[in-house]
Amino acid sequence: MSARRLVLADAPGAAEACARYVADRLQQALDAGSLATLAVSGGHTPKLMFEKLALLPVDWRRVHLFWVDERCVPPDDAASNYKLAKENLIVPAHIPDRNVHRVVGEIDPQEAAQEYADDIRRFLKLAADEMPQFDVVQCGMGPDGHTASLFPGEPLLDDRKGIAGAVYAQQFSQWRVTLLPGPLLAAKWLVYLVTGEDKAETLRAVFEEKPNPKKYPTQIALEHPEGANWFLDEAAARLLDS
Ligand code: 6PG
Repeated sequence: MSARRLVLADAPGAAEACARYVADRLQQALDAGSLATLAVSGGHTPKLMFEKLALLPVDWRRVHLFWVDERCVPPDDAASNYKLAKENLIVPAHIPDRNVHRVVGEIDPQEAAQEYADDIRRFLKLAADEMPQFDVVQCGMGPDGHTASLFPGEPLLDDRKGIAGAVYAQQFSQWRVTLLPGPLLAAKWLVYLVTGEDKAETLRAVFEEKPNPKKYPTQIALEHPEGANWFLDEAAARLLDS
């Protein structure tokens, strides 16, 4: 599958280009239907993208927001991906609360994962074994090659039928709820925003080493039927063959 890669000079440039791409795809989905769905990641990188996306002309009243993953913390915790999106996208873009489908990070992780999967099934009116197709899924990559909260060696990487699961992130001593590979690969548009020097070697491995998602979970994105859309800065892309 052909991955489309756009390399921008720096992180703000990559965030801007990514935000414009996400906004255009959401508008495309809204032109084709009554609602659009967006699943976003957390961590540090999306903050800049959210700030830019919130300023773009999207009919947010018709966009429903989901998460690629969440840390199992209360919604006002500094580590909460919901909090990150709320402060930098939901509030600035005036996204109605009824459109926000957060992971309930403050309850038992297994229950939170089940509740989240049930919410997704209910909202998208899915049949029991049907995979959700979000319009846009925005992911990132950790320096270790993890994506969503699918870390190297994670057994749930082999679960291609499930929607969401609870994982224990050893290096962060933290439980997480994450979308599983299925919803990432079923996305109409799969988008990666990856910036920073510390990701360069792993990004080279993701694109140039033989597929081994247990070693580099981000390689799952290379299986996307239409190819993922990568927004990179020069620092992250510096070891890639052009
Ligand atoms: C999270 C994310 C995770 C993130 C990578 C990159 O909750 O941490 O969703 O998958 O995309 O860890 O994180 P940074 O942007 O902080 O480098």
